[in-house]
Amino acid sequence: MGEMDLMSKGDLAQSVELAAEVLTKHLAGVPRLAVTLGSGWDELVDESRVESAVDFKDIPGFPIPTVEGHRGRVLKVITESGHILVQDGRIHCYEGLSSLEVSFPVFAYARCGVKALVMLSAAGGLNPLYIPGDLMIVRDHIFLFGDNPLEGLKLDGYPSVHVNLSGIYKTEWQEALKSALPSGVRCEHGVYAYVKGPTYETDAEAAFLRMAGADAVGMSSIPEAMCAAFLGLEVAMMCCISNTLLPSRALGLSHEEVLKVTRNRAQSIRGYLDSLAAQACALL
Ligand code: HPA
Repeated sequence: MGEMDLMSKGDLAQSVELAAEVLTKHLAGVPRLAVTLGSGWDELVDESRVESAVDFKDIPGFPIPTVEGHRGRVLKVITESGHILVQDGRIHCYEGLSSLEVSFPVFAYARCGVKALVMLSAAGGLNPLYIPGDLMIVRDHIFLFGDNPLEGLKLDGYPSVHVNLSGIYKTEWQEALKSALPSGVRCEHGVYAYVKGPTYETDAEAAFLRMAGADAVGMSSIPEAMCAAFLGLEVAMMCCISNTLLPSRALGLSHEEVLKVTRNRAQSIRGYLDSLAAQACALL
């Protein structure tokens, strides 16, 4: 069966079963908390804590990341508070996939018993008070420019696609992400605007998104967040502000720069997965 057959909407339920089977077998039991690591965030992984790993290419239906800084592995990591699932690498719609295809792993995780999804990513700062290296916990999002992953989904046994996204980022999860940080790290709560990319914003687009109420803009995670909400998972998200767009754009904005700033920030909070798992325990 080809990749597109596997991902056609009619076959989704079957594809999810196949992927869940592989994950359950390779990871010998799937944890309740899943954390996805975008650009630069792979620095949080301590390889000595990885108990098992499976490559995306060995999981039916999982898309293969093509972007520098995204490895494409699902890990079972032991923390001081038990196991967590870590997705090391993320797929983006700008790699040529639909929102549903990039969100497919979330369907598989939910099928395996994952109850909460925490997404770590990079974003460009629109709030003029933000500086590169700041962290922003997402309190809401704006998704107006992508294809909705739930478009056209008609699946037996799944809930309604008319998901109420009001309050999707629960306060207690936002607080958990924040409490897990070491003291002294600059961190705000803000609104994330999703754009498809892969180009960065024009000055007029950045000004428009700011006017619309966004504090940061990025090219990832929101399709997965919507699918997670659809599947009844708790959702939380934190971005590293890798560059600023307003009041002025840093010269030479590039993917390399985004990776460098985010990697530095991740290195400065190395034990974050341990403290996040501890905070999540109280909520799961
Ligand atoms: N725009 C969109 N996505 C991003 C940016 C940006 O400036 N920085 C990191 N991801």
